[in-house]
Amino acid sequence: MLVDSHCHLDLLRLDQEPLSRVLDEASEAGIEHMLCVSVSLERFPAMMQLIEPHRQVSASVGVHPDGIDVEDPDEERLLELAKHPRIVAIGETGLDYYRTEGDTGWQRERFRRHIRAARAAEKPLIVHTREARDDTLRILQEEQAADVGGVLHCFTEDWEMARAAMDLNFRISFSGIVTFKNALQIKEVAQKMPADLMLVETDSPYLAPVPKRGKSNRPAYVRYVAEYIAELRNESFAQIAQTTTDNFYRLFPGAKNN
Ligand code: NI
Repeated sequence: MLVDSHCHLDLLRLDQEPLSRVLDEASEAGIEHMLCVSVSLERFPAMMQLIEPHRQVSASVGVHPDGIDVEDPDEERLLELAKHPRIVAIGETGLDYYRTEGDTGWQRERFRRHIRAARAAEKPLIVHTREARDDTLRILQEEQAADVGGVLHCFTEDWEMARAAMDLNFRISFSGIVTFKNALQIKEVAQKMPADLMLVETDSPYLAPVPKRGKSNRPAYVRYVAEYIAELRNESFAQIAQTTTDNFYRLFPGAKNN
């Protein structure tokens, strides 16, 4: 048993392979649940339609911090969409100063609105952060995100950032990046953080783990991430699979009633 805590099923090349096959492959690999994460409201209705028949998939609602020239929802709009029974989280939201040039004030405003919506909806947050650690932590703190908690997804920071996020009631989710040779500080975090705050994900179709690196990623490959972390921590795969699965349902209780 294993859960992919973050994937973008609607961004897979479904013209080349139907979703049902991707999900069958995942289930054969022992993946019992997937959280399909929203990146824009323009894509949201089609994403919900796509996952609708598949009870092993839950979803989030939110607008990615990279999204420019897309609908920028206010808190009420997010809250309204979050009422859908399959929505278990708000996101992905956050800050990305790597891919955005110039003024980033709009990103911080968007991030704050997502946090407020999450608190009002009483749903956890899925946070993306890149080259924006101080502002990410500051805004999480100022907006009292700890009330709902959440996850720093696709973790690429160091131990200090992990520690600060965990103190704010956030979990740490590892993607295929942890298997990459040069990702030393990420491996360090995976090795020493408490197991009960850890999640695993693919972020598919991006960032396929070793030994599938460079290929299009898919939920079945979350197994490689969990196997790698098990080895790093000198624990069994079964143990890591069980713990990260339990952690997932504790953070996203809505996924249980799917
Ligand atoms: Ni993502």
